[in-house]
Amino acid sequence: MKDTRRTVIAGNWKMNMTPAEAKALVTEVAPLVAGKDKCDIIFCAPYVDIFAAQEAAKGTNIKIGAENVHFAAKGAYTGEISAEMLTACGVEYVIIGHSERRQYFGETDETVNLRTKAALAAGMKVILCLGEVKEERLSGITDEVVAMQTKLDLKDVTAEELKNVIIAYEPVWAIGTGLTATPEQADETCGVIRATIAKLYGEEAAEAITIQYGGSMNAKNAAELLAKVNVDGGLIGGASLKAADFAAIVDAAQ
Ligand code: PGA
Repeated sequence: MKDTRRTVIAGNWKMNMTPAEAKALVTEVAPLVAGKDKCDIIFCAPYVDIFAAQEAAKGTNIKIGAENVHFAAKGAYTGEISAEMLTACGVEYVIIGHSERRQYFGETDETVNLRTKAALAAGMKVILCLGEVKEERLSGITDEVVAMQTKLDLKDVTAEELKNVIIAYEPVWAIGTGLTATPEQADETCGVIRATIAKLYGEEAAEAITIQYGGSMNAKNAAELLAKVNVDGGLIGGASLKAADFAAIVDAAQ
């Protein structure tokens, strides 16, 4: 049941925000979410915004994460950032496997798995994104797709490491489109992911893992989605860029 797991509301800024804008947004959100302790509150920010966002989040209940991490410890990977670099900057959370990474940057279940293992080995908490594309939903293979992604993306992740994994179920057709999965669709597919976790790691692990919904979650639809038994939070893109909207989603999680 829901009280066996933590609700997590995470913003994903994507490629938005200068450091000054990041600082301003966190400063604006902080008083609006102060004392809202029924969920963890995270902003995942572009690398260059992390220090400014952390500075503004100091002493608040807002945590700052990153949007990706490379799987190698170091080396000739121009443009990439390692888990050790992130933890050295005090970054605990990282998004991995976002559909935009999969769609535009060649990310596969194999590289998502490698990145996940590297981040977990460095002691980070991973927000692992997965979800079906529109054609897959229309073909009736959503359950198979998310089960397969769950298995491949978590390959060789231990039960102990799984405690640091949050799964974000994000139907690709709902991301940034204004289309939202119905609360029933979100609940059902998060349930399929949970059942897959139960098969891989046992019932207790399945009841303990936080599974967020993401895809056009906003101030209006959040309460209904978060009320569902299998939906333990949200990964929020567009609405995380507006203080009032993001704070309203945090309120809906209380
Ligand atoms: P959206 O993005 O809320 O703008 O649909 C969600 C996400 O991509 O994580």
